[in-house]
Amino acid sequence: MTGAWRRDAAGSREPSETLEKAEHLTSPRKLYVKSFGCQMNVYDSHRMADTLAPEGYVETASADDADLIVLNTCHIRENATQKIYSELGRLRTLKDAAALDGRRVTVAVAGCVAQAEGKEISRRAKHVDLVVGPQSYHRLPALLKRAEARRVVDTEFAVEDKFDALVAPSRDATRKRGVTAFVTVQEGCDKFCTFCVVPYTRGVEVSRPADKIVAEAARLADAGVREITLIGQNVNAYHGEGPDGRAWSLGRLLHRLADIPGIVRLRYTTSHPRDMDDELIAAHRDLPALMPHLHLPVQSGSDRMLEAMNRHHTAADYLKTIERLRAARPDIGFTSDFIVGFPGETEDDMQDTLRLIAEVGYASAYSFKYSPRPGTPAADMEQLPEAVKHERLQRLQDAIDREQAAFNERCRGRSFDVLFDKSGRLDGQIVGRTPYLQPVPVMAPATLIGEIHKVTITDIDGYSLFGTLSSLPPPERGRSPSEARRAGVEDRHDPLPTPPLFKGREPTTDAALKEKTI
Ligand code: 5AD
Ligand code: SF4
Repeated sequence: MTGAWRRDAAGSREPSETLEKAEHLTSPRKLYVKSFGCQMNVYDSHRMADTLAPEGYVETASADDADLIVLNTCHIRENATQKIYSELGRLRTLKDAAALDGRRVTVAVAGCVAQAEGKEISRRAKHVDLVVGPQSYHRLPALLKRAEARRVVDTEFAVEDKFDALVAPSRDATRKRGVTAFVTVQEGCDKFCTFCVVPYTRGVEVSRPADKIVAEAARLADAGVREITLIGQNVNAYHGEGPDGRAWSLGRLLHRLADIPGIVRLRYTTSHPRDMDDELIAAHRDLPALMPHLHLPVQSGSDRMLEAMNRHHTAADYLKTIERLRAARPDIGFTSDFIVGFPGETEDDMQDTLRLIAEVGYASAYSFKYSPRPGTPAADMEQLPEAVKHERLQRLQDAIDREQAAFNERCRGRSFDVLFDKSGRLDGQIVGRTPYLQPVPVMAPATLIGEIHKVTITDIDGYSLFGTLSSLPPPERGRSPSEARRAGVEDRHDPLPTPPLFKGREPTTDAALKEKTI
């Protein structure tokens, strides 16, 4: 739409951009984006809003008063997909009611369901104006213009670089989103696990060039972001081009990002065990900003199942990787994903999984019943009865809950660096995250939001830890985050008394860590 021409009442022509900007000044259009599924969709939703902002769209928190509603969808399991069709049913009612009031509401479906089921959506939900896949949402302004005349489905894998075409968020928009942010570093996956739709919906693995990622992170830091999570479907397969023209590994990229003033915490997700290379493991040893927390999905503890899932590793390989990471960073905590009820899974396989869970001692984990996805190899295998899946999921979740409760319990009385990122539910309360992403509500002034402070854990309730602020020595308070980081304010945890927080070994001091080799 930008740069197109339209005729004014007198018949002369002006750039439509000027007219539209003037219209937007008086009546901004309201945009409601609802994200389903993974962090990648949260990131994409923000980028869609950024791309629509120059077109005059202002975000609203409710679908009820929106002119444009975008559902950014997830296709990973069948129930995720079903949710989208239910949501679309509700939006039909909303759109019809708005039409009776003389208001046009545009409904767009984006994300992985759009990619996988574009035609099906058009058939089942006639009130959808636009279907746009995850590789073409940078074209939203032009697609919306076309959708004014007739329904549009765009699920092409674009030849141009989507990231180059996207509009950067304004400083204001970044500030509103808080002190933590996601940055996509790679998309797609070449692993082809037999249960997974990602290689089909998101396509082959593509890594962004390092300097573009660094520029995006620096912009975020400049607008007040303190913690960046690098995201990608197979993030540790990252191999983007570095400024030296060579492929950079994720470990190398993390080193570069840790140098950006203001960035005090780094994370990355989601990783494949096979891609935990030496450089990445060493980054856990060498970078204080890299949080001692890793989401490393294993899916199953049974070699038979891992083989059937095409995971390219055994349970022993996985445990060896965990051990190497613990040697590099003794206070590291792990989370994982598990699938139960995969075709052919027996009670013995289930026992292998339960054993692996106990052996690793996870800080928490996600678990799912296997959901056959059309077009994936496992969907054609003989399926287990629903009752078996259900019963195994219960047992698995009980085992994970026990591990998580034990992990949280071991945090009682200890002191952690907490990055405060929002106000709490109570007056005078703020909430932050420990290095392990556990939420911690603390009674403290809102001026501390965006800062890291030591908190002593005094109580545990469900998934939340409660704590009190440990007072900082006066010089730290006046420091900028980068100065504080250089001064080691975000530090490894204090060497702790027994019982150990982490399975296997006690945390060591910084000095001892530096001497370790992998
Ligand atoms: N059924 C159940 N769980 C799945 N996942 C991916 N595909 C499926 C499926 N077909 C889970 C995996 C993955 C997480 C994001 O979702 O555990 O790590
Ligand atoms: Fe899916 Fe992850 Fe396997 Fe890739 S590595 S196919 S994204 S489960």
